[in-house]
Amino acid sequence: MIKNSIFGIVQNDLTALEAELLSVIHSPVHLIKEISEHLVKAGGKRLRPALYFLSARSAGNVDNIKLQPLATAIELIHMATLVHDDVIDNASTRRGIPTANTKWGNQMSVLIGDYLFAKAFSIVASNQVSSRVMEVLTEVICSMSEGEIIQNQDTFNADQGEMEYLGRIAKKTADFIAASCELGALTGGLSSEDVQALRDYGYSIGMAFQITDDILDMTASSEQLGKPAGNDLRQGIVTLPIIYALQNSADAEELRNIVITRNMSEEKLARGLEIIHSTDAIDYSYRMVDEYLTRARTVLPVALPSEIREAFLAVTEFIEMRNF
Ligand code: IPE
Ligand code: IPE
Ligand code: MG
Ligand code: MG
Repeated sequence: MIKNSIFGIVQNDLTALEAELLSVIHSPVHLIKEISEHLVKAGGKRLRPALYFLSARSAGNVDNIKLQPLATAIELIHMATLVHDDVIDNASTRRGIPTANTKWGNQMSVLIGDYLFAKAFSIVASNQVSSRVMEVLTEVICSMSEGEIIQNQDTFNADQGEMEYLGRIAKKTADFIAASCELGALTGGLSSEDVQALRDYGYSIGMAFQITDDILDMTASSEQLGKPAGNDLRQGIVTLPIIYALQNSADAEELRNIVITRNMSEEKLARGLEIIHSTDAIDYSYRMVDEYLTRARTVLPVALPSEIREAFLAVTEFIEMRNF
């Protein structure tokens, strides 16, 4: 979980969420409970539900009971996408422990991911939500699927530019974080202007969040991240620092050959990373992060309660400084 100081105001909500996540994943099929518990107990930042709670609490006093179901659904959807993503990315660790695909195989992981999606919607269906809430949630899943499909089509393709990259990360990451803020604002009953403003804020921090994820893949260790470092280049996922280096490095031709290599050796991977690091690709990518975070700060509604506004601003700092 992210430092208590950032999400202190919603700490009780987040504690209740942990209990709720564990209680909803019961099933007569023991393996479902076993795998789901493995996933929940591994933790994670809980960024999306935290932003949802923060957005909802912007409205003042909102009943905790009313807020919990959607928060639970949001984190279950996130978990489902990560389980599927780890199958696609062939990732061995997540949140510092073996992924579901490592422990139970790809077939079981696909099924568990489906189960978690369905569980999320069964929770939503048994609570009265507006059609707009349903629309936001379902659009998010379509968008994430589109983002991952586009990314999958474009693997090992060195001929892509920033526009393609930004379009893809908007779909796979920013839309979900935008939706988490919007859903909180809707549940809290904020004005339509504030709902839109918090959605815009979520979108911008979502873009920044995925760019930092892609930077960290090349700058942090697997231990720090709790997931395999360098995996993007290894899996042919062409991220912003790679695109920049392909366009600006003196060794662009050599990098190009590495980017298009399937099943690359660890030596080739290391050489690819060396070429990227010898350019200012990382600084360039951080400048882009800054631009999105500046936009996030600009669009925040001015009239938010001050402690909520502070927390939203602290999230932007966390994204900039994070190393996990
Ligand atoms: C991982 O999301 C997927 C991305 C969009 C980068 P998080 O970094 O929020 O994952 P957890 O929940 O903390 O493990
Ligand atoms: C985010 O992309 C995955 C989803 C939005 C499902 P990544 O593939 O970069 O996420 P990590 O690095 O595996 O967490
Ligand atoms: Mg991945
Ligand atoms: Mg990544």
